[in-house]
Amino acid sequence: MSDRLIIFDTTLRDGEQAPGIALSPDDKVAIAAQLARLKVDVIEAGFAASSPGDFEAVSRIASEVRGPVIASLARTHPDDIDRAADALRAADRSRIHVFISTSPIHMERMLRMTPVEVMKAAVEGVKRARKYTDNVEFSPQDATRSDPQFVIDICRAAVEAGATTINIPDTVGYATPDEFVEMLSMVYRDVRGTNEDVIISTHCHNDLGLAVANSLSAIHAGARQIEGAINGIGERAGNTSTEEIIMAVKTRQDQYGVEIDADTTEIFETSRLVSRLTGYPIQYNKAVVGRNAFSHESGIHQHGVLRDRETYEIMDPESIGHRSRIVLGKHSGRAAFADALEKMGYTLEDDEFARAFGRFKELADRKGEISEEGLRAILDEDTDASPDKIHLVGIHLSGGNQEIPVAVVRIEQAGVERDVEAEGDGMVNAAFVALQDAFGIPATLVDYRVSPLTAGADAIAEVNVIIQVGPETYSGRGLSTDVVEGSARAFVSALNKAMVVHTDAFGDTS
Ligand code: KIV
Ligand code: ZN
Repeated sequence: MSDRLIIFDTTLRDGEQAPGIALSPDDKVAIAAQLARLKVDVIEAGFAASSPGDFEAVSRIASEVRGPVIASLARTHPDDIDRAADALRAADRSRIHVFISTSPIHMERMLRMTPVEVMKAAVEGVKRARKYTDNVEFSPQDATRSDPQFVIDICRAAVEAGATTINIPDTVGYATPDEFVEMLSMVYRDVRGTNEDVIISTHCHNDLGLAVANSLSAIHAGARQIEGAINGIGERAGNTSTEEIIMAVKTRQDQYGVEIDADTTEIFETSRLVSRLTGYPIQYNKAVVGRNAFSHESGIHQHGVLRDRETYEIMDPESIGHRSRIVLGKHSGRAAFADALEKMGYTLEDDEFARAFGRFKELADRKGEISEEGLRAILDEDTDASPDKIHLVGIHLSGGNQEIPVAVVRIEQAGVERDVEAEGDGMVNAAFVALQDAFGIPATLVDYRVSPLTAGADAIAEVNVIIQVGPETYSGRGLSTDVVEGSARAFVSALNKAMVVHTDAFGDTS
């Protein structure tokens, strides 16, 4: 058996299915380029048939990103497979990932197909995909709630039809490590037993917090591909976290005994980029990449680490690219700012640089010092100055807990400024109502988070919001030393995303 473990990253497909994440094709190309620097083996770039945006993202990644195999998901429908193949045409190496559900509940309630029909569709789907590429993955969706014998039979049929990777998804995060090992061992014996070139893979969800444990346990059962997403994002509680798998396999080589090609020093940057572009904050105590992952609070721990880092650290922060702190102050000029960006690995166009520098000066004047984390947040704030977007010029608030709070927002679109006033049941709510009126888009706030990026009463706050407009959700992020202003900036960023889709439905917003 090969000692190489294939890292298959699905941040851009399953990860992007997390509520509120809507990455543009440009964002997806930026993440894919970073995943290539991380040296994952396979990038699942999207589900080409699911939307024109996904098709564009998969095609652009296939033509612009070199190194990893580029994959697209596809149902067994002929159109899905043709669309995936079309999007992948420019890739050096491509993979079509064909899936169909195999559990009784999915077959009966969702697909309304019999097992015989499902089997036939799987075989036809894999055969069709093989006409386009010799790299075809097959997944029996909801495998862990399926009849194990049916999973074996359909996977064997898929291998006979030409599948080169058999992926076993724990779609609803239901399996325990012992059960998962049992299922994977069966698949290894009865499916790979018929063709030793087939790679057995895992794809786990985290509903019970077991995704990483299940995936790692499968290595002992012969799995040689693990699917995951950066920061563990994905449907519901998310997917296996790619960076946790990479670091577990590297740190516990004695246990897993498999080699990977990943460049661990790119983990930190990849994690921060995904967080910034998706608008999903990283849990403070998240393994490997959380901001507390290498912090030591108690005196005993600090004392130990000062004597010898390994007393309380099993990984070297530098090994994941957690580099030393950069701090810029309000007196720092363009050269220092450019130098910091270069050290952090950013290259900006002139206009982007000018906007980012302007925002940096604005915040540094109020706050004094801006840390590396603050700089990253500034760089990722939505400062797109395109004329079709609505920009926040200013916000005026009045009222308090004795009077009805009122917000007047001044917005600008294509050079024209106007004021919109609204009342709310709090300052943040008043700003939100005024901005909805300004955009002409009725929205519901479904998630709202404020995180301090710096310490002190004048801290820079990062506000992350998720709004719902119709059935869709949109994320936004804003920064300020003032929470209401930061919130308004986050609402504007989310509403601008919604506006691209909803202007026709709610009328001209200009
Ligand atoms: O969770 C799942 O079953 C999936 C499949 C499409 C692989 O994401
Ligand atoms: Zn999944």
